Amino acid sequence: MSEAVRTMMRMDAEAAPETLPHADAGFLWDFWYPAVRSTAITGQKLVTAMLLEVPLVLGRTAEGKVFAMRDSCPHRGIPLSYGRLDGEVVECCYHGWRFDACSGQCVEIPSLSSQDKLKVERIFAGHYPCEERDGYVWVYMNTPGTRLPETIPAAPGLTVFSDKYKITHLSCELPSHVDQGIIGLMDPAHGPFVHQSWFWRKRGSIHEKAKQFEPIPNGFRMSPHSPSTNSAPYQVLKKITGEPVTTTIDFVLPNIRTEEDRSGKMWFSSRATVTPVRRDLCRIDFVAAWNLFFLPVSIFRVFGKIFLRQDQETMIQQAEGLKHNPRLMLIDDADRPAKWYFALKASLIESRRTGGAMVHPMDGPVTLRWRS
Ligand code: FES
Ligand SMILES: [Fe+2]
Repeated sequence: MSEAVRTMMRMDAEAAPETLPHADAGFLWDFWYPAVRSTAITGQKLVTAMLLEVPLVLGRTAEGKVFAMRDSCPHRGIPLSYGRLDGEVVECCYHGWRFDACSGQCVEIPSLSSQDKLKVERIFAGHYPCEERDGYVWVYMNTPGTRLPETIPAAPGLTVFSDKYKITHLSCELPSHVDQGIIGLMDPAHGPFVHQSWFWRKRGSIHEKAKQFEPIPNGFRMSPHSPSTNSAPYQVLKKITGEPVTTTIDFVLPNIRTEEDRSGKMWFSSRATVTPVRRDLCRIDFVAAWNLFFLPVSIFRVFGKIFLRQDQETMIQQAEGLKHNPRLMLIDDADRPAKWYFALKASLIESRRTGGAMVHPMDGPVTLRWRS
């Protein structure tokens, strides 16, 4: 965990205990994380990625099934991605050991003679459960040194509300710890400053807001409400359907923010995940789907990229400041979601450590007020 995050956690002793049991990089293990886009893995290609500082090699078997292995040969540690994929098997480039791509099990050591007794099948390369969903390859990152649980939950999927819809993906890297990325994502107060634009909002349009929040498992929800009246896209939607627009925004651990906007039969659904790559680097993966006939993918992407770019530039500037370990603050109410995030995270880690139930930082619905 960075010193900056530690300082921030100290600000709210009740919500965030000073010392976490895992005094490591502050990652949450035993969750699914998006590693790469599905389209990146074609043919016999071996593709590298990094999640939670674990180097991965990903590929697709001859049958089209995706797999993820630790990008390190268990023999001498050379990245397996320098080797080759042959249908079902990854062959190391150094001494040609061959591993079943899906299980990581060693299937052949070419140097063994007829006299050797070594049980090849007892050797495994590191491997991780892997699933494709919404155009991403998700990898389940279990705690280092632990066995995989008997059953693991399905990878998260984007909620859609009709059979036909448009879908698009955007992503950007942030030079920050995942915690900074996440609290930036849920921060309601930066909009009028960072995202000033003619199509979204002006600085002068700042006004007081009151939003209700409620606890949900592993997270919190901004209860269904009518979105900001000063944002042009919502006004358009309301004009077209003639029905009110309702928005529901959820955050759930480890890193997922979803938003669902509905108006009559029209809907828009999006998900942003902030995935730790290294302790000083995270990545936002944003996927959105909608059945709004008047919104072409190309137009959406233009605006989506502007938004992400604005956030990214801000976080690049912030990273410059965080290098010097400044003292930070979280204020009420605008930073309350950030406090909940730190408290949820600490509570999850604690419940995993003790085996006890997870204590939710919220004991019921609460209204937050801020100006944005
Ligand atoms: S290092 Fe991979 S086979 Fe020897
Ligand atoms: Fe933003």
